[in-house]
Amino acid sequence: MEHESFTITGYDPERVVQDGNRFLLANGYLGIRGTVEEADRSSLPAVTLAGVYDQYQDRWREPVNAPIGLFAKLILNGKVMGLGNAEAHSHVFSIDYRNAVLTRETDFGPVVFRSERIASLAEPHLLTASLTLSFNTDGEAVLLTGISTDLWDINGPHLFDFHNTTGEILLCESITGEKKIPVAVTQSVSYEHSAEEMFQITGEGVFRRIGFTVKAGEKITFSIFSAVYTGLDVQEPAKQAERLCAISKAAGYSECKRAHITEWENIWKQCRIDLGGNEDAALALMASQFYLNSIAPRHADNLSIPARGLSGQTYKGAVFWDSEIFLLPMFLYTQPQIAASLLRYRIDTLPGARKKAKEYGYRGAFYAWESQEGGTEGCTNFNVVDVFTHRPVRTYFRDKQIHISGDIAYALWEYYRVTGDRLLLEQGGAEVILECARFYLSRASARLDCDAIDYADVIGPDEYHERVRNNAFTNQMVRFCMENALRLKEVFSDKPEQFEALLDRLDYRTDWELLVKALGRIRRPNIRHGVIEQFDGYFDLEDCRLETVRSRLVNPREYWGGDHGVAGTTQIIKQADVIALLALFPENYSDEDVAANWMYYEPRTEHGSSLSACMYALTACRIGREELAWKYFCDTASIDLRGGGKQWAGDIYIGGTHPAANGGAWMIAVLGFAGLSVSNGSIELRPHLPVQIKRLQFPITQGNKHYLITVTHEGWKTEEL
Ligand code: BGC
Repeated sequence: MEHESFTITGYDPERVVQDGNRFLLANGYLGIRGTVEEADRSSLPAVTLAGVYDQYQDRWREPVNAPIGLFAKLILNGKVMGLGNAEAHSHVFSIDYRNAVLTRETDFGPVVFRSERIASLAEPHLLTASLTLSFNTDGEAVLLTGISTDLWDINGPHLFDFHNTTGEILLCESITGEKKIPVAVTQSVSYEHSAEEMFQITGEGVFRRIGFTVKAGEKITFSIFSAVYTGLDVQEPAKQAERLCAISKAAGYSECKRAHITEWENIWKQCRIDLGGNEDAALALMASQFYLNSIAPRHADNLSIPARGLSGQTYKGAVFWDSEIFLLPMFLYTQPQIAASLLRYRIDTLPGARKKAKEYGYRGAFYAWESQEGGTEGCTNFNVVDVFTHRPVRTYFRDKQIHISGDIAYALWEYYRVTGDRLLLEQGGAEVILECARFYLSRASARLDCDAIDYADVIGPDEYHERVRNNAFTNQMVRFCMENALRLKEVFSDKPEQFEALLDRLDYRTDWELLVKALGRIRRPNIRHGVIEQFDGYFDLEDCRLETVRSRLVNPREYWGGDHGVAGTTQIIKQADVIALLALFPENYSDEDVAANWMYYEPRTEHGSSLSACMYALTACRIGREELAWKYFCDTASIDLRGGGKQWAGDIYIGGTHPAANGGAWMIAVLGFAGLSVSNGSIELRPHLPVQIKRLQFPITQGNKHYLITVTHEGWKTEEL
């Protein structure tokens, strides 16, 4: 099929950071940024490990970047043939999304440097590359290749006590600072040219210098194999890394690549959307699906996905509500075992959520806003740095964005509703829902025997307005969470003793009664001319245009929210808030409600978060405004190809890939354009195809059944596969 690869030609040092994201390869276990083989720290190279975190001194905790085992630098007749060192006549980076292979080709004149690289999906601990050097001159060459410890860290360093071993397999061992987790990386090379090898250990890593004589017209290929293990994976990471390196080398690059491609073929079979009619959009959607699938945890069954995927350490490698609300749907309908992994991560981190609730004086489960391993809260009280004073700004995401617990309960319920599978609820999901509901009981800003229960001092999805009262989205999430907590009794009606035992174990009898009383009394939003007020008093704020607010900025990187931000006193919002509510609870609102709110909030939304566009597109489909949905779809789907999205929040770099927008693109195509909904196991479609799309085809999974759905302007069909 077409539209399956993306190529950029020419070398531009200004684009290196962005290309690192665009050409990222990942396999759920690790992500390797799309930098060239010879890159030093200034290009932000990284092999980011999923679920391994470290804190250096009192800096922010963030994921650990492992030493880079695919490092390679060519020196020809004494001159470094590397970008930035030698002039490149041409330079091409190309990513093949179908096979998940990155190709680089740089013509330095005397030599053309071509490489192919994979982050193996068949063997998640393996990175492998094939370098082909085509010489146009005679001379003496040295390929310096090995494991580079010249690492990019935002808040590091994180690795200490380096111990390097040379031999057929190079081994670099280190341990993390905070938890002393061993990290082992190996590297080995195979080639068929006569050469002399020497080893080199420096402060920047452990290397092999392969010296050889070349003739013009000669082509030499080197296969590089690198394995990564940590003490969280196995008892003896160094041994395992050596073993995998040796096995892979014996198998050869082509075999490793073949096995990797087979795994990707399976993924595409399960979720590939084929969009006909617009080539740019088809490519963007393919890219988007590629990024999301490549960071999905397939090697573990209880991991989630960080907000910037595995593209580095931005956003502290933390898991946000993005996972439950934006990433979950694609997996739920195509690869439910991954959806289950995301949710199991929340089930397993319930102790962390209980701890956080307690810390704030509440009961139940208050999940981390920025969740790291074990549910540790990565969000600090000062999460933004003021661009004028360079002082940290007190932000309230950590303490006030209480919708996070409800989002998790919502996602658990969605899993049960869409898959019809109760297992996750039995294996701790029910307990999570009950504990989230208990948190909301204790967080209610009123006596529970009053007429109405308010949620004061909260932050909704629109983070620019802090510490507001009765955010409509939050209150609905609370209500839904409580409703579902009570519904659990029905879900377990065939095993009443089991459910009663759970209530006893949680000492939940009184809370159950309180839930029953609280449910009907959670404050409903104010409505004016059919428009839901985002929070109490929102309509009284200055009603001005987005451009007006933007024109008030003194510095383009200035933070818009909080006490001093330009948006806080106005009705300009960061991202979909009421619109997200309408998108997530479609059955609660009529088409007229959706239309009135869409028209009101759209001009007042900055889309300062990549999470916003997909909610606007989904609701635009609902009201038959496909042309508006199309615009937001294109924005969402192309975000990582374009290198879009905000790069700065105050003084803090927040770039990387955008998994939530990637998940959002799937949601728009399938839930919006095709209008797919599933209830009680039956599939319904209410298509809203924009004119730009001629045909949309995609697979979905329902229980043990797999379907292929095709939608055109003439109609639609569902085939069982
Ligand atoms: C958004 C949040 C989101 C986070 C991570 C922030 O800019 O406002 O809603 O969860 O980014 O993507």
